[in-house]
Amino acid sequence: MQKLKNKVALITGATSGIGKATAIDFIKNGASVIVTGRFQESIDKTVVELGEQASGIVSDAGKMNDLKQLGDKVKAISPQIDVLFVNAGYGKYAPIEHIDERHYDEQFSVLVKGALFSVQQIVPLMKPGGSIILNTSIVTEIGMKNSVVYSAAKAAVQSFAKTFASEMAPKEIRVNAISPGPIETNYFNRSNLTEAEIEGVADFVLPQVPLGRFGQPSEIAKVATFLASEDASFLHGAEIFVNGGFPNIKV
Ligand SMILES: NC(=O)c1ccc[n+]([C@@H]2O[C@H](COP(=O)([O-])OP(=O)(O)OC[C@H]3O[C@@H](n4cnc5c(N)ncnc54)[C@H](OP(=O)(O)O)[C@@H]3O)[C@@H](O)[C@H]2O)c1
Repeated sequence: MQKLKNKVALITGATSGIGKATAIDFIKNGASVIVTGRFQESIDKTVVELGEQASGIVSDAGKMNDLKQLGDKVKAISPQIDVLFVNAGYGKYAPIEHIDERHYDEQFSVLVKGALFSVQQIVPLMKPGGSIILNTSIVTEIGMKNSVVYSAAKAAVQSFAKTFASEMAPKEIRVNAISPGPIETNYFNRSNLTEAEIEGVADFVLPQVPLGRFGQPSEIAKVATFLASEDASFLHGAEIFVNGGFPNIKV
């Protein structure tokens, strides 16, 4: 059954990984999808791969000018948005001694400012029955060295899920979050970690994942489809942890 038939979804940061997998699953479930990313070339490539139910907008979630134009650009494609998945982002890692203002501003711009103003821009295009989904992270649940700024930024997004849920309730727009555990995407390759450091993270995290593997982007996408659909009609202000049991379950 197509759970999102005739719905229109905007997914920020959907040229790869979780965002792209979600676009694929939304389309499989009957939705039309608008994807964003920072580069025209990857947007064009992604739209071709996703097919005729997809369109794309170049929009940098970390740039206020782009955020201010997001609503109008989306409206030019569709006057109504039924589902908003706020997903754009990446992580930068460093110990406290090496954090500078640029690192802080970059992460908070993309993750916090980007999430807040994307929602502000798109809510006027949403009707009762709409669904907003925010991508948080497992890092809000654990203290993890070198992730002081990324974790704090994702904790702000976690907080948005609750406040937005309160503000959107009278509009009958549901707001929920997905907190992914370690997922096999371009995430780590795009971070500032070296190959050796990425391997180090994998060696450290993997033994702690009770299901014994990294998750696939499609496994987050299916939860996003659930949250976007009528199946989740009474789910509001929730955060779903999709993490293979890491870090709370021990085997
Ligand atoms: N993978 C994990 O283990 C994991 C765990 C928890 C949470 N997350 C979160 O999941 C989200 C998606 O990450 P992913 O794992 O799927 O990584 P990914 O494969 O690197 O995908 C990131 C996506 O975000 C886009 N993006 C990055 N910066 C952007 C910006 N400033 N404006 C607009 N788009 C931007 C990228 O597109 P362009 O490069 O084309 O702009 C890309 O489409 C992120 O918010 C991340 O923090 C990931």
